[in-house]
Amino acid sequence: MPPITATDAWAALAALAARPDAGAIRDRIGADPNRFARLSRAGAGLLLDLSRTSLDEATLAALLDLAAAADVPGKLAAMAQGEIANATEGRAALHIALRAPKDGGFRARVGDGWEDASALVHAELARMRAFVAAIHEGRLRGATGAPFSAVLNIGIGGSDLGPAMATEALQSLQPRMDVRFVSNVDGHALAPVLATLDPARTLVLIASKTFTTQETMANAAVARAWLVAALGEGAIATHVAALSTNARAVAAFGATAAQTFGFRDWVGGRFSLWSPIGLGIALARGWEAFAGLLAGAWAMDRHALSATPAENLPILLGLAHTWHATFRGHASYACLPYDQRLARLPAWLQQLEMESNGKQVDAAGRPVTYPTAPVVFGEPGTNSQHSFMQLIHQGPAIVPADIIMVAQPEHALAANHRILLAHGLAQGAALALGRSGAEQEKAMLAAGMAADEAARLAPHRHFPGDRPSIGIVLPRLTPETLGALLALYEHKVAVQAAIWGINAFDQWGVELGKTLAAGTLTALESGATAGLDASTAGLVAALRQLGAGSTH
Ligand code: F6P
Repeated sequence: MPPITATDAWAALAALAARPDAGAIRDRIGADPNRFARLSRAGAGLLLDLSRTSLDEATLAALLDLAAAADVPGKLAAMAQGEIANATEGRAALHIALRAPKDGGFRARVGDGWEDASALVHAELARMRAFVAAIHEGRLRGATGAPFSAVLNIGIGGSDLGPAMATEALQSLQPRMDVRFVSNVDGHALAPVLATLDPARTLVLIASKTFTTQETMANAAVARAWLVAALGEGAIATHVAALSTNARAVAAFGATAAQTFGFRDWVGGRFSLWSPIGLGIALARGWEAFAGLLAGAWAMDRHALSATPAENLPILLGLAHTWHATFRGHASYACLPYDQRLARLPAWLQQLEMESNGKQVDAAGRPVTYPTAPVVFGEPGTNSQHSFMQLIHQGPAIVPADIIMVAQPEHALAANHRILLAHGLAQGAALALGRSGAEQEKAMLAAGMAADEAARLAPHRHFPGDRPSIGIVLPRLTPETLGALLALYEHKVAVQAAIWGINAFDQWGVELGKTLAAGTLTALESGATAGLDASTAGLVAALRQLGAGSTH
């Protein structure tokens, strides 16, 4: 059942989505030379183009009615006011406070009272800034007196994806330090990185909101032992910094208070790159870059909280994605950044979207009866064109795409950049407009192909078109535009949660696997499979027979 207050708007959209021409894009583009002007909007330095979707005036109006009925602006405002947005954990979702200026006045509800979020954030930002400067200037050195030249960030999920993605995205800036990110508990991730690092010159960041995540704690223990073996126990105080909400667990691990950077549980893991969890970005790309990232996100925050829904990029993007996922039933969408530096954006977006909105019940615990978060996947263009785009052009399912383009590169290979953008533009055009079998046949005949061969090939070469894509254009990829882009998606996720009536800020779905892993670990180590289901017990036995239980 849709959110009660939105029932009329919901029904109107369901009726619009059932029209025979509801998915038409080619005809809509053909019929209106002003379509781009009517369906594109600018905000916080970004351009959003919805003209290659099937949205028309009636649909857009109905979607805006839905946003009003679901009180999307009110829910965004309540989130920014620090109210409890995450009712199952009794927490606010106040990542906006992380990038707001010092006098932002943000407060978070904690229990029955309020906490001065802006004061906490800026106290920690000042400490981070001083720490980064001391490392970069060589004032803070390792146990042997050598300056730090490398950083190893150990964290997983939001404690890895955001900082790793942003650090890679900002690679055009002068690199300040060699920062590596290791997330997976698979030793194939950590071992080769440790093998290339010099412990005497390495600062280890343990990034974990909870400081209890098994994979991170296992990797942290390995890194700790690696430091101690090379430099002695005393090195931990200088070589480890902890980024966490759990000061007690951090202290037990041995990180000093001076090298612990804290935040509160009103920062969700997947919204945490703006918090001390982003320290690796600042170490890798410089404090100014990190500050620019925050400033860009704050520009998008102000836009999201103040622009009218019809001009509001996150609301419009959320509505377009909801039209696709919920009303048109498209179960997945592709994130296609036409910029190699954004290669990790799809992975970051996967956690943001799928961990936030992959829910089966609404905020009141009632089953949702409509499609919510689609599967998100993606790769940078043009690489994607040579792998999965075939399916998006001609497969039976419609897969909407977000095509992200950056107008100006930071390299001198101007011809490459024009080719890159030409492909980004052409993909959107091919998806929207398609090309009929008859047109293809005509072209083959004109090229001299025999008539029966042209007729045989025509259906294979038919592009159906009417496949939606959304354009997002950045003038350049700077800390500020990156911050705005990421905040655009964060708010879009909150907009959709408001429409779907779900809690975007918990993630109970990941808990069961973690709980069961305790039993499977014991079984792998001991061979005792009592209590395991027959399939799992069988696999444990097979793995142990192949040597998986042994330690070497
Ligand atoms: O996957 C569940 C999750 O809690 C994510 O939400 C979070 O980003 C990740 O684990 C890591 O958690 P932590 O930062 O507490 O180690």
